[in-house]
Amino acid sequence: MNASNPLDVNRLRAETPGVAFGNHLNNAGASLPPAPVHDAIRDYLKAELEMGGYEAAAAHPGAIREAYDAVEALLGATPGSVAFVENATVAFSQALSSIPFRRGDVILTTRHDYVSNQLMYLSLAERFGVELVRAPDAPEGGVDTGAMLELLHRRRPRLVAMTHIPTNSGLVQDPVPVARAAREREIPFLLDACQSVGQMPVDVREIGATFVAATSRKFLRGPRGSGFLWVDPEALDAGLAPLFPDLHGADWIEADLLQPAPDARRFENWEFSWALVLGTGAAARYATDCGLEAIRDRAWGLAARLRTQLEAVDGVTVLDRGARLGAIVTVAVEGWTPSALVSALRKVGIRTSALERSSAVLDFDARGIEGALRLSPHVFNTEDELQAAVDALAELAASPGRK
Ligand SMILES: Cc1ncc(COP(=O)(O)O)c(C=O)c1O
Repeated sequence: MNASNPLDVNRLRAETPGVAFGNHLNNAGASLPPAPVHDAIRDYLKAELEMGGYEAAAAHPGAIREAYDAVEALLGATPGSVAFVENATVAFSQALSSIPFRRGDVILTTRHDYVSNQLMYLSLAERFGVELVRAPDAPEGGVDTGAMLELLHRRRPRLVAMTHIPTNSGLVQDPVPVARAAREREIPFLLDACQSVGQMPVDVREIGATFVAATSRKFLRGPRGSGFLWVDPEALDAGLAPLFPDLHGADWIEADLLQPAPDARRFENWEFSWALVLGTGAAARYATDCGLEAIRDRAWGLAARLRTQLEAVDGVTVLDRGARLGAIVTVAVEGWTPSALVSALRKVGIRTSALERSSAVLDFDARGIEGALRLSPHVFNTEDELQAAVDALAELAASPGRK
């Protein structure tokens, strides 16, 4: 512990077995889970091993309920407002499927939505004649909130959607004014919180969205293959439901959890991994116990330090833009493609990820960027690990022509 941040980094590292195996700066890709996440999954899989999948679920209603409780507590949400799904993309598509779009309807969004979300909008445009309107950027980067509000008033969209923390630019956007304006006009607001959940406080009461979509494996430090959708209980009461509602009414299984779903579970599929749901619940509890403000302050502090260090390296350009920057750091290195950098860094035990043009066509093309290397520290990373990454990149930048 130190005076400026209540997190005990030694303890966080002791609880994160993966730190012994490498310098993990890929938390925006998939983070290292803490031990309780692994334990929850392992124990549940053991129950499945011993009694079979359906019987294991029927024998663990309390543990399953606690996973819902933990994610709802993480989001400041009320009981029954979270649906577990496989990932953020499924959460997003389930939410979209509940809006009865008609020809000529407008989806208002930004230039910073994740690529899979953009593809869903394009598909809706092609199939149903929905019009896609993207609000312009502010000069400092990120959506121009004033312009978005003006479009919201003038175009009266059928849906407003935005991404809290885009995958590719360090940016943190403010959804609150847009969500509030959408609510005043009774327009559904869909927030992609895939990178923000677990990285910073995401309080659904404060944001006032209709939907919040997220994944487990990134800054939340849960397992791969698990995600969730929060749905506003008022919208649920009003009958909002996905195109294919769940089969929770299958009463041939005797467990409370599997009775017909009056709540957000109507957005779930019947079949998915309860082991991963329990892992997600453990990750949510772990993050809540750490404190989301403390997590944000440490992760953003490490990222800010990394940017400053990298800016001083010859041949390295820091690409992040925005009034508020989070725990994602993006750089270009002269003479190197992002994927060649990822491979070279991996050889020396440093884990990062490559963002190709296709990850963020709109933003990268507008800025004339072909791709970027992404480094994304989290609370358990140390200042020494950052320095090691900076030194390695300095060495690579000084080796021209090695792509
Ligand atoms: C901002 C953002 N939204 C959505 C997604 C999609 O998440 P998933 O792969 O869990 O569907 C990602 C993945 O990188 C992302 O960064």
